[in-house]
Amino acid sequence: MKQELSDILRKYEGKRDDLIPIMQEVQEKFGYLPEEEMKEVAKFLRLPESEVFGVETFYAQFKLKPSGKTCVTVCRGTACHVKGGARILKEVEKALGVPPGETTPDLQYTLETVACIGACAVAPNLIVGKETHGKMTVKKVGELFPSPKK
Ligand code: FES
Repeated sequence: MKQELSDILRKYEGKRDDLIPIMQEVQEKFGYLPEEEMKEVAKFLRLPESEVFGVETFYAQFKLKPSGKTCVTVCRGTACHVKGGARILKEVEKALGVPPGETTPDLQYTLETVACIGACAVAPNLIVGKETHGKMTVKKVGELFPSPKK
């Protein structure tokens, strides 16, 4: 068992009610809920792994996969769609080499989509990390992500 996990579990008695607080701490530490660690948590709480997995998937706050260092969010709202958002999304997918909801193998980027970011006036929009890029074009996507990530 990883040291980080035993440091977390040490603080708990091993009751069923400890599951969610433990999961929150594991996610805070690792950025997501690694499978091996969660098997150890199930053992510690004497719960079937299937029950732990059920809780993981029930709550949207829990991530089962690691996220990339930078989140890339493409707006899929109506205003952005009308202005060519679908094309932008396609280009970003091509540049990163992953579909929405996935992370590049080098863990640099996670691609997401969103319904509307409230900046319809400068559609189509793309967010990289904390920065919003309005009036996106295919060329600008190429500038933001110069070399395709494999
Ligand atoms: S639809 Fe994209 S910002 Fe509103």
